Amino acid sequence: MSSLAMHPIAAPIPAPVQPILLDIQGLTTGYGDVEVVRDADLSFRQGVMTAIIGSNGAGKSTVIKAAAGLLPAWSGRILVRGTDITREAGYRRLSRGIAYVPQGRIVLPEMTVRENLELGGYTLGSDRRRLREAIDRLCGLFPILGERMSQLAGNMSGGEQQMLAIARALVTAPDVIILDEPSLGLSPKFVAVVFEKLTELTQSGLTIIVVEQKASMVLTVADYGYVMHTGRVAFKGPAGELLADDRVKRVFLGEAPEALHA
Ligand SMILES: Nc1ncnc2c1ncn2[C@@H]1O[C@H](COP(=O)(O)OP(=O)(O)OP(=O)(O)O)[C@@H](O)[C@H]1O
Ligand SMILES: [Mg+2]
Repeated sequence: MSSLAMHPIAAPIPAPVQPILLDIQGLTTGYGDVEVVRDADLSFRQGVMTAIIGSNGAGKSTVIKAAAGLLPAWSGRILVRGTDITREAGYRRLSRGIAYVPQGRIVLPEMTVRENLELGGYTLGSDRRRLREAIDRLCGLFPILGERMSQLAGNMSGGEQQMLAIARALVTAPDVIILDEPSLGLSPKFVAVVFEKLTELTQSGLTIIVVEQKASMVLTVADYGYVMHTGRVAFKGPAGELLADDRVKRVFLGEAPEALHA
């Protein structure tokens, strides 16, 4: 055997590609008879944080509402692990492991932190033990909630309420969590905390889809990104590549990413 055969030129080892968990194929949808999203393809891989960015009114929230089952698809398909769920209602998708956190950190202000979390677990039915375990686990992840279990949610700061909204969506231990602008209205300190938590959750294997206005910032923590423009996917790629892309930078980021670290 020649030495060449014994020492073949090493082919680059491809990075492991995670399977697609949630797949949006050719989605067209809108409101009334106004088409807002046109033929959009977006794939979300397991254990990956994917950002959806783009200008106001681009259709970002519309895409994720369709993914969460809150808005019907006019055409196209939505698949979870290869199963077509296009016609399934939102609550059915929740039981398939798809959780959705709407914009505006909606918590029930007159209820305590614990009661808010318990409500998040209503699909666990009467399984009190699983609910208690889930809540304990989440208090480990969000210690601030553990310290405030009997406080009224309405008396917490915006950042704390956002943590609660995220934690509540995690009570059922979903496989994918879809968030609409989790940083909206938060102080810079809490924006950083929220993104840190999302990074931690991704590392633990959760699939995260996050729509964000703070485009440069979310692309520094996300793995992959889609840029939407007037209802279509204009660009997609690894987050680092989008951050470095001149066209994306000029049109959608509106700032040099290094300004983030100023
Ligand atoms: N419930 C609704 N009824 C009618 N039109 C709507 C509704 N929600 C959104 N739209 C319209 O659909 C378009 C896309 O809205 P969408 O909320 O998806 O944008 P977005 O990319 O999330 O924008 P933003 O960054 O401002 O949140 C906009 O023109 C908006 O006015
Ligand atoms: Mg929106």
